[in-house]
Amino acid sequence: MSRIVVTGRIPEPGLELLRDAGDVWAWDADDPIPTDVRNEQLASADAAVTLLTDRVDDAFLDAAPRLQVVANVAVGYNNIDVAACERRGVVVTNTPGVLTDATADLAMALILMVTRRLGEGERLIRSHEPWKWGMFMMLGSGLQHRRLGIVGMGAIGEALADRARAFGMEIAYHNRRAVAPEVERRLGAELLGLDELLETSDVVSLNLPYNEASHHLIDADALDQMKPSAFLVNTARGPIVDEAALVEALRTNSIAGAALDVFEHEPEVHPGLIDLDNAVLVPHLGSATVETRSAMAVLAARNAVAVLAGESPLTPVTS
Ligand code: DGY
Repeated sequence: MSRIVVTGRIPEPGLELLRDAGDVWAWDADDPIPTDVRNEQLASADAAVTLLTDRVDDAFLDAAPRLQVVANVAVGYNNIDVAACERRGVVVTNTPGVLTDATADLAMALILMVTRRLGEGERLIRSHEPWKWGMFMMLGSGLQHRRLGIVGMGAIGEALADRARAFGMEIAYHNRRAVAPEVERRLGAELLGLDELLETSDVVSLNLPYNEASHHLIDADALDQMKPSAFLVNTARGPIVDEAALVEALRTNSIAGAALDVFEHEPEVHPGLIDLDNAVLVPHLGSATVETRSAMAVLAARNAVAVLAGESPLTPVTS
């Protein structure tokens, strides 16, 4: 019987599928699994189901000599050294598709939060400070006819564009290659170079994978290119943004605001961000709905089960 190690808590429907396929050991606490416990379990593991907080590197793989598959319960897989897995013949899978809507919803929510100053408003009410309605109180920026610049036009970028269109926004995007002409037409989307996108967008949304090429893509120079009235939204991965440079840009109002679901040194948040009213900060909630997390666990489990059965995984990744 195959031995399957699950390195963190995942929803029950995923575990059920795994239990039907093998002998499952699952770490059952919210705290990260201690390395010695993990390694002890990996020693006899045929499959590992991992979370985005697990680092799957040579040390992980050294501890798992029988491993056939790493099934990551996330669409992002920057936590996995895919090349190292490939060298050892270990299949890597992720969970695309099932979290597209939830993540696009959150990105749209962040756009609304930061442009309409909703975090600030909430903090005001909760501060117990007296307040009264005023014509010029807490004015935000409208979205109609404003340009949303999407960096990374994959499934989530497209789903966000659909939502933003419903709010009257115009869509520009930057991507390695153009999306299909019918998608461009449906979204009224224009492919731009990154410089032009940064210079002309009213909201810049990051929806690209994190890798060496996207590390600090949004640095001081990139932030400097943005309009002083523009907002930055990041629901992708924290290290795409140079957080220290962002703090400086927000502090000096060289951009109007930022809304972040992800952080450069997650779960640490740059202390400079915490005190800034023009920063909206939420704790990596992109895929955090009951339905989506369950679907992610099920897809990861189906991937692991397929590889153990000698079949092709549904959603493999390659380096
Ligand atoms: C992912 O799946 O990569 C997301 O960041 C999870 O929220």
